[in-house]
Amino acid sequence: MRKNSINYFPYNFMQKILIANWKMNLDVEKSLNLAKQYKKNLRTLKGLELVVAPSIPLIIPIKDIFGSAKISLSGQNVAAFSEGAYTGEVSAKMLKQIGCGYSLVGHSERRQHLVEADEMIHKKIVQSYAAGITPVLCVGESLKEKESGGRDAVIINQLQRALSKVEALPDKEIIIAYEPVWAIGTGVSVEREDLIHVERIIKRALSSLYSENFYNEKVSLLYGGSVNSVNVSVFWGIDKLAGFLVGTSSLEANEFLKIAIQMK
Ligand code: 13P
Repeated sequence: MRKNSINYFPYNFMQKILIANWKMNLDVEKSLNLAKQYKKNLRTLKGLELVVAPSIPLIIPIKDIFGSAKISLSGQNVAAFSEGAYTGEVSAKMLKQIGCGYSLVGHSERRQHLVEADEMIHKKIVQSYAAGITPVLCVGESLKEKESGGRDAVIINQLQRALSKVEALPDKEIIIAYEPVWAIGTGVSVEREDLIHVERIIKRALSSLYSENFYNEKVSLLYGGSVNSVNVSVFWGIDKLAGFLVGTSSLEANEFLKIAIQMK
C-alpha cells in the first residue's frame, strides 16, 4: 500500500471510482466554490473513490477545503520528465507532494490541442509510477476514425504505444478511461453495446501486452464522454466498468452527486 497523504486514500483496486475533470472551465473563485459544494454534498458517500482533477494552482487550496472529506485529487496532466529545465511543467513527484494520488495522462484534448504524442504519454506513465501516482490513461477514437471503421485499431495502438515496456506495470494498477473524442462535451455518449465491445478490445490488447491476469487484477476501466445523471444508468453494471470520467456534468455539484448516488 502506498503512503497516505492528507487527501490521498490508497486506491483500493476494483473499487468504484468517479473522477471529475474540471478541465480549464472555471476561474479560481468558481473552482473554490465548487470544491466547497462537493465537500458538503459528497462527503457522506462511502464505497466510492471520488477524485477531483482541478487546475494545478487550485490543488493545494482545494486540498485544504476538502480537509478530512474522502475526496482524492488528481492532476489533469503530469510532466514526462522527473525534474530539471522543463519550463511550465509539473512533475509527478510534485503532484504527489501536494496530495494527488492520480494523474490524467493522454487526454484527447491534450493529444489534439497540445500535440501530445504517444511517446510522451508513455513517459508520463513511467513518471507517474516512479512517483507513486496512479495514471489514468485516456484512449479513444475521433469521429473520423469511428466513421472509417478504425476505432478498434486506434484504441489498440494507443494502448500499445503508451504501455509497452512500462516495466513497473504488471505490479501496479492502472486506470484506463475510454473516452471517444466525438462524445466529449457533445451531449452524445457511446452506445452501451459499443462500450461492451470496446471493453473486449481493451481486454484483448492488455492481455496480449501483459497477461489476462494483469487485466483482471490490475486494470480498472472507466468510461468518459457526455456522462450525466440521466444516461449513467445505461452504462453502470457493464462488466469490468469501474466508473466514469466526467467533464461537463462535474461542474455542477448536484448533477455530479446524482451520478455518484447511482453508482452506490
Ligand atoms: P464531458 O463529460 O464534458 O463529455 O467530458 C468528458 C471528459 O473529457 C472527461 O475527461
